[in-house]
Amino acid sequence: MPAHQLPNGPKTHPWVQTFQWLTNPLEYMETCAKHYGDIFTLRIGPVFAPQVFISNPKAIGQIFSTDPKQLDSGEAAGIKSPLLGQQSMLALSGKPHQRQRKLLTPPLHGERMLAYSEAIADITEQVTSQWKVGEPFKVLPSMQAISFQVILSAVFGLESGLRYEKLKALLLEILNPQQPFFLAMAIVFPSLQTDLGAWSPWGKFLRLKEQMDELIYAEIQERKEQPDPSRSDILSLMMAARDEEGQPMTDVELRDELITLLVAGHETTATSLAWALYWIHHLPLVREKLVQELDSLGEKPDPNTILRLPYLNAVCSETLRLYPVAMLALNRVVKSPLEIMDYQLQPGTLVIPCIYLTHHQEDLYPDSKQFKPERFLERQFTPSEYLPFGGGNRRCIGMAFALLEMKLVLATVLSNWQMALADTKAVQPTRKGALLGPSGGVPMVVTGKRPQNQRILESRVKIS
Ligand code: HEM
Repeated sequence: MPAHQLPNGPKTHPWVQTFQWLTNPLEYMETCAKHYGDIFTLRIGPVFAPQVFISNPKAIGQIFSTDPKQLDSGEAAGIKSPLLGQQSMLALSGKPHQRQRKLLTPPLHGERMLAYSEAIADITEQVTSQWKVGEPFKVLPSMQAISFQVILSAVFGLESGLRYEKLKALLLEILNPQQPFFLAMAIVFPSLQTDLGAWSPWGKFLRLKEQMDELIYAEIQERKEQPDPSRSDILSLMMAARDEEGQPMTDVELRDELITLLVAGHETTATSLAWALYWIHHLPLVREKLVQELDSLGEKPDPNTILRLPYLNAVCSETLRLYPVAMLALNRVVKSPLEIMDYQLQPGTLVIPCIYLTHHQEDLYPDSKQFKPERFLERQFTPSEYLPFGGGNRRCIGMAFALLEMKLVLATVLSNWQMALADTKAVQPTRKGALLGPSGGVPMVVTGKRPQNQRILESRVKIS
């Protein structure tokens, strides 16, 4: 029997599909899954070509292990961004993509990554020291401030100075535009990318980007003129790296990769942290268990010990499962005919591993809408059943860094502060650009500061 070329999907006009996907992504995906199962086809902007959404773990495993020559992401799969640039790892595919990943892997893993631990704890203490007991505030902006400073300091190794301050201000303006809706639409519909002067949204974006690029190129130039081998930030490591032919990265490659790390690593981690703090305080038993585990470590535990705490790990895993900030992995484009789940997919077809739907398969995750960290203590999931960071050759290169940051920020906050949700209404997931975030930014209130000696005392009492 000849295999079908495309899985079924809604027959509505692509504009209607795009509208539903943009305004209500979770409900739309769930409705499609109910009608068509764990593989279906949508036609949504900006490409409007058939896009095959897959939440069948076996098929996802196949996608993650298919040779990139046959199936890969990058510009050909519709991943391009005027902010990130053409040399961004996200836009590249094949050999050049592999080369960039090789150069960027060491600074984001192992001992080198652990070197950022102190900065993460210091930045968390500094940002949260602004919190005032009894005054309600939103947690998301605080987490954004932490993750932004953390990634900036890891990438550039800068925490002060005029250039750092200017760069920080420009990036904040670019990443939090005054007209986010227009810019989101401009990314979806490239015809809106027209420079109508400094006051138009696109014109403003281009001018900010130009100023930001000037600062980055000035920093690169200065480091070339005054190299400092003792620096261990990501930019310095990238500048020292050489590929197989002994070639260094070009200035444009350096610039595009730096911005990619800043953009990919900032909002994702901040949003996940805001979700985690919401669940921890929404469920008193979860908070109690977590605080007990953290207190049992005593004062100044080393980051490696925090990284390995089983309950903290389960809380982070469950946070990233229930409402994964990245609902979808990156698009992959079929390069030569590929059979998946009895469908013979032709070159040019886009394939998308659907993280959200996979994380809500009831046979894998019973009561999937409930926050239950214990599921990660009771059973192990395969990389195609649990995939908040995607997988295969495109798996998030910042995964280890993001988990380190999440765990250290949560440990620091929970060890220092007693907090409560400021609103009893359940927080709902909502689309924030490409991400899935908590609606309302999680209003909370600090109810007290936990004194250091009391913490140790409490932990002794609980352990004995
Ligand atoms: C909780 C935080 C984060 C989540 C949930 C997340 C999730 C993801 C996902 C789902 C992908 C696509 C993977 C695929 O299609 O298979 C991805 C790719 C990527 N992420 Fe993350 N990410 C996070 C944090 C970070 C951080 C901190 C960095 C940088 C330091 C980063 C840098 C990247 C890059 C560069 C890619 C593209 C990889 C490639 O194309 O080869 N991410 N991330």
